[in-house]
Amino acid sequence: MIEYRNVRVALLGAGSVGSQVARLLLEQSDELAGRAGAGLELTGIAVRDLDAERDVDLPRDLFTTDAESLILGADIVVELIGGIEPARSYVLQALGSGADVVTGNKALLASHGPELFAAAEQVGAQVFYEAAVAGAIPIIRPLRESLAGDRIKRIMGIVNGTTNFILDRMDSLGESLEDALAQATALGYAEADPTADIEGYDAAQKATILASLAFHTTVPLMSVHREGITGVTHEQVVAARKAGYVVKLLAICESLVDDDGAPGVSARVHPALVPLGHPLAAVHGAKNAVFVEAEAAGDLMFYGAGAGGVETASAVLGDLVSAARRHVIGGPGLAESNHANLHVLPMGNVVTSYQITLDVADQPGVLATVASLLAQHEVSVETVEQTSGVISSDGGVATATLIIGTHRARESDLAATVAALTNATVVNSVTSVLRVEGA
Ligand code: HSE
Repeated sequence: MIEYRNVRVALLGAGSVGSQVARLLLEQSDELAGRAGAGLELTGIAVRDLDAERDVDLPRDLFTTDAESLILGADIVVELIGGIEPARSYVLQALGSGADVVTGNKALLASHGPELFAAAEQVGAQVFYEAAVAGAIPIIRPLRESLAGDRIKRIMGIVNGTTNFILDRMDSLGESLEDALAQATALGYAEADPTADIEGYDAAQKATILASLAFHTTVPLMSVHREGITGVTHEQVVAARKAGYVVKLLAICESLVDDDGAPGVSARVHPALVPLGHPLAAVHGAKNAVFVEAEAAGDLMFYGAGAGGVETASAVLGDLVSAARRHVIGGPGLAESNHANLHVLPMGNVVTSYQITLDVADQPGVLATVASLLAQHEVSVETVEQTSGVISSDGGVATATLIIGTHRARESDLAATVAALTNATVVNSVTSVLRVEGA
């Protein structure tokens, strides 16, 4: 029997992920010690309420409400409390005392990442956060290590399971957004207040983390363009499928050029039309996937469970083993890389293609007027489809639906085009504008 030295692990939080981490640490301690080269000694679990009900039966004497004392005696602190405070203070305390930190807290990293990474670097410690993006899916380590020698061009991620579940039901079962959301809530995917998921805040936090890593640049959360799924209609989803697309909420991080041709980066979250043949179109239910386009490696896709207690615990334990190995070897932790320091560009610089749906008067010259408005704003038409006009029973003007697919255009030009179309007398309404991604 090999005798390992022990690395002391303090766990903060015993929610669905924390309780599974504790269980696996206790149940698989020999295996984990063999892999880490050190025993992972769970010294305690800090919780707010000692009597709260837990998903897992854990030894009662491990629990404490005194997080600060627990952190003081730890080599590695696992923060699974979530939210900003007190998580931020505890992480800073841990780093200040030289401990490594393992966290799954995307909100904390998205808003305070640079502060935490600087605190870690100052003492030679490291922050590990595989669980912060896309749950069980290994994506942080591949970006940070496996692809460190490549250039990332673009990342397109389905990084929010709740919205993917909702959009998938709207597509496959024809449900309304409200009914699909009610199902997501009933099954425990959506929180009682689903705002963070359906308005894209959760995905935007993950986009910040992915973009910063992939482009070696600090990408602030406030620079991420964010649209949720609450504006997605049943009609859009049905029309999308008819045209060979599926609507997905995507987090897109990509390299771009600014107005002077200098390299930059952008991050955005919004619903988009994804061609049915694209691998992301096959991501169903609450699953997540991250599609990475790299210069040398080509296209890669990482797929799996984006949430769930035991699934996310897998990512946390992987980080714990890495952190423990680091303690055995010694030396400073791996610092965050932001050497590229690219310009973070606004949404107006994004270049993509669009599908615009218009309700128009069915009269001579309407198509020509619409086409000329697009041309005036440098937006080139790729496809046009018109459904037959309907003559209103009161003898009014017949209407038609125009679906216009554009070539790639700048977002700022597209926005000006949509404003002009909205004001054009021949256009009754702009019923839908969706970006097309991955075509
Ligand atoms: N609420 C998230 C989702 C999981 O629905 O994917 C945690 O990030």
